[in-house]
Parts: sequence; structure tokens; C-alpha cells
Amino acid sequence: MDLSGKVAVVTGSGRGLGLAYARALAAAGAAVVVNDVDKTAVDAAVGEIRAAGGRATGVTAAVGTAATAEQLADTAVREFGRLDVLITNAGILRDRVLWKMTDDDFDAVIDVHLRGTFTCARAAATRMRAQGEGGRLILISSPAGQRGNFGQTNYAAAKAGIAAMARTWALELARAGITVNAVVPVAVTEMTRTIPALAPIIDDAERTGSPLPAWLRRDEGLGTVDDVTGLILYLASDAARDVTGQAIGVGGDRLALWAHPKEKAVAFADGGWSAEAIAGQWRDGVGGEPETYGIPAPRVPES
Ligand SMILES: NC(=O)c1ccc[n+]([C@@H]2O[C@H](COP(=O)([O-])OP(=O)(O)OC[C@H]3O[C@@H](n4cnc5c(N)ncnc54)[C@H](O)[C@@H]3O)[C@@H](O)[C@H]2O)c1
Repeated sequence: MDLSGKVAVVTGSGRGLGLAYARALAAAGAAVVVNDVDKTAVDAAVGEIRAAGGRATGVTAAVGTAATAEQLADTAVREFGRLDVLITNAGILRDRVLWKMTDDDFDAVIDVHLRGTFTCARAAATRMRAQGEGGRLILISSPAGQRGNFGQTNYAAAKAGIAAMARTWALELARAGITVNAVVPVAVTEMTRTIPALAPIIDDAERTGSPLPAWLRRDEGLGTVDDVTGLILYLASDAARDVTGQAIGVGGDRLALWAHPKEKAVAFADGGWSAEAIAGQWRDGVGGEPETYGIPAPRVPES
């Protein structure tokens, strides 16, 4: 995919998935603003991209505030003349069950993921609208936001909110030719290697240098960070000019379109529904086939 002439900002691109996106965008010809809170990681990423012949500059700052968002958009325009693609990828976890989650745990995760996505997208959309040539907002969501996940009140709320913002901004920015999509990635990173059922398998593959097992790549959709970059490059490209308002899953050998929430069963009562009327029909009526929730546990095949 040729992205020559395009300029991208990738938040949280000092390591993990963000670094893979930054590398891939630069290799495809885009100029990249690398951002992270970790200055050493920012400098290393910029150095690596430049050494490979790509164009990159770094901004060490914490995503969340309007000031950082403005700094990122300003840097793209000052260093490379424009802004075409924003990838809101920066993220942290503070996992605890509801009754142990502190206000700080909640606020920290909401600040980076939800507020950071909002402030960065607002700054980027403002620049893109002024340029008048469209653009791409690629918002990183998560399976936890789509389905809920044990111990992830803050993270699931933020990631669900990000998918909701993608649908909202797809409406608001359509006339400006700016597409907005949520990406639901799964990949082995510092964030995922601690999942108990998967840790031994990931450790084993890394120790032996062998690829991740085929069932993991296909059934669980878990692969390397580089497996996610194809979707990012596609969405950033002119080929995806008509793709907007979608939540798209990718990982390992899997590519998936997530369904948006919609009414599954509907019933009507003239004059409205009393509690007794709902109770009388729930099990055989609207509530007859309740939805599943939560991310299914990985199914490790018996060897
Ligand atoms: N790894 C997965 O399977 C997976 C699954 C679903 C969603 N995600 C999402 O993908 C994104 C990247 O995840 P990852 O697995 O690469 O995580 P990671 O922890 O390896 O990388 C996250 C990066 O974001 C940086 N960061 C944290 N707070 C920041 C802030 N305020 N400002 C700027 N940078 C900040 C970190 O320093 C780090 O370099 C996250 O949004 C995560 O929620 C990952």
C-alpha cells in the first residue's frame, strides 16, 4: 500500500502495537509523528524509522490533555506540512474488580484512552477540515469494549466509548471526507502476555523461536503486532475512502467485522409495558434468548 505524501500521528508508538503501526506507515511512505510518554522509546523508534530511510519525528508527552493533542497536530503540520491520518493507540491498564477499583484506577484509564482519543481526534479533525482534503481517524478499541471483561470496568468502558465515538464522528465528519473507524486488535504485547491461559504458549513460542500455533492465530485471532498493520495501512489508504463508522477486528489469521448493537427481540403492548406485563412475558418473549457477555476464555486444544 503506497502512502507516500501522507502524514500520520500515532499515539503510544514507542513500543508494542503502536510501534508496529509507526514502522509500517513509514515503510509505506508516510511521514510519522511518534508519540509516547517514554522518551527513550520515542527516540529509539524515530531513530529506527530514519535509519530505514523513513521520515519520522518524536513528541514525548502524555496523551489525555488538549495541550498534548494540539502539540501532536501542530508537530505534524510544522515538521511535515499537513496531517492526514491519526491513530489513537496510547493506552494503559489498571485492572481490578469493581469493588476494589479506586477512583484513580478509573480516572487514569479513562483519561488516556477515552479523553485522549477525544482530544487527539478533535485536534486532528480540526486540521483535516481546514486542509479540506479529507482524512483518516483510526481509533483503537478492544474486545473488552465490545463484550465486557472481568476486572476491566475502566478499560471496557473506555473502549466501548471509543467505538461509540467512532460511529458518532463518522456521521459528523462524512461531509469533510474524513473516515472514522474503530480497530479491535489482538496481538502479543506487554499488555496481553500476562493472560494466564496464554502465557505458557507465548513463552514457549518465544523461547524456541517457533511461530505461534495455528489454532491460536486462527481460533483466538492472536498473532504478532505485525499481523495488525495490514488493516491499519488499508484504512489509512485511499482504497478505504468509503469505509467509515465500522468496528473491525484483526489479529493472527483473523479479520472480522464486528456487529453494532441493535435490537434483537421486540414486543409491543398498547399503552406501554407495566412491570407485571414484562414479568409475564419475559422468559418466553423478549428475554427468551439472552445475549452472551464477556470475552470467551481461550480454548486451548488438548494435546
Ligand atoms: N495487545 C492487544 O492484544 C490489544 C488488544 C486490544 C486493544 N489493544 C489496544 O492497543 C493499544 C496498544 O496496546 P499494546 O498492547 O501495544 O500496549 P503496550 O502497553 O505495549 O503499549 C502502549 C504504549 O502506550 C504508551 N502510553 C501509555 N500511556 C500513554 C499516554 N498517556 N500518552 C502516550 N503514550 C502512552 C506506553 O508507554 C506504551 O508504549 C492500546 O490502546 C490497547 O488498549 C491491545
